[in-house]
Amino acid sequence: MSKKPVRVVVTGAAGQIGYSLLFRIASGEVFGADTPVELSLLELPPAIKAAEGTAMELEDCGFPTLSKINISDTAETAFEGVNWALLVGSKPRGPGMERNDLIRDNGPIFVTQGKALNRAASDVRIVVVGNPCNTNALIALHNCREVPATRFSAMTMLDENRAKALIAKKAEIGVGAIRNLAIWGNHSSTMYPDFEHATAGEKSVEAAVGGRAWLEGDFMVAVQKRGAAIIAARGKSSAASAASACIDHVKRFMTKTPSGEWFSAAVPSDGNSYGVPAGLMFSFPIRSHGDGKYEVVQGVNLSAYARKKIDETTKELLEEREVVRQLLLR
Ligand code: NAD
Ligand code: LMR
Repeated sequence: MSKKPVRVVVTGAAGQIGYSLLFRIASGEVFGADTPVELSLLELPPAIKAAEGTAMELEDCGFPTLSKINISDTAETAFEGVNWALLVGSKPRGPGMERNDLIRDNGPIFVTQGKALNRAASDVRIVVVGNPCNTNALIALHNCREVPATRFSAMTMLDENRAKALIAKKAEIGVGAIRNLAIWGNHSSTMYPDFEHATAGEKSVEAAVGGRAWLEGDFMVAVQKRGAAIIAARGKSSAASAASACIDHVKRFMTKTPSGEWFSAAVPSDGNSYGVPAGLMFSFPIRSHGDGKYEVVQGVNLSAYARKKIDETTKELLEEREVVRQLLLR
């Protein structure tokens, strides 16, 4: 393998999502069969033993791409020289909770980790999965002044995948035929899955599912509350699908987005896009240039219906920002 190794840290490596995520990264699926992967596993001290067990299993897979595994309970050590930081480690919600009920417990984790990234890594891209992921990403970037804010994103790819799957099932077509399904705003029950601009093969989604009533009704609620439905059914939050979405997120940022297409991710708002105030971590339709740069797709025509939904999710993100104001440094 001739390429330079890529270093990836997964926080919460012994958790549910970590257990699904690490193997797929190690397998070469994300960075390619010719790129060695050095994994760094960050865990809390009581879970280090479990992380060691996961590392044994990673070795036992015999992936030719996996060149090194480090395990640490110290963020600065785990983040040393990483190129990708997948920030998963944090508390999941339980039944009856909203994701932002986790802010007070999980927010401080991203202060510590933002500061540690600031000291330990420079050529790094950060993906926040731990909930509430938009606001946790905001906290991390505010505490990491040396890394450009545009290197931080939060994951709404799971919501995009869920929305596409629901539409494909209703329209009785393959999920691969659904394109340009943007999630706007917060990874929460106020998110807006934009069915108005998505397509199903050659058709609009509205035509493919037989009208708008289902999209505004059952579909909207199902996407917004899918995480809660999984917790109610499994007794634990989504894990394999979350890990899969994280893989999709990284791949979509690494690959040039085909012309006319977009994907969803929460990125820092520039204040000039769709009336969203500057600085919020807001999920937009995104196009990657494939060279580490990306853009928020401009010119998406928003209906009055979409505008109302986007305003609602914006309001929630502004409220979350107020709750964590004292954790924001820059
Ligand atoms: P889990 O409880 O199974 O695992 C979390 C792990 O993180 C634990 O092993 C814990 O020891 C570790 N951890 C906690 N604090 C840490 C810290 N400061 N540093 C390092 N490790 C730490 O939880 P999970 O199911 O893997 O979920 C993790 C997070 O991801 C939760 O906040 C969950 O809500 C969120 N999530 C987000 C999405 C999304 O779409 N954005 C989807 C699913 C889950
Ligand atoms: C999800 O969407 O499945 C995750 O954010 C976990 C949760 O709490 O819903």
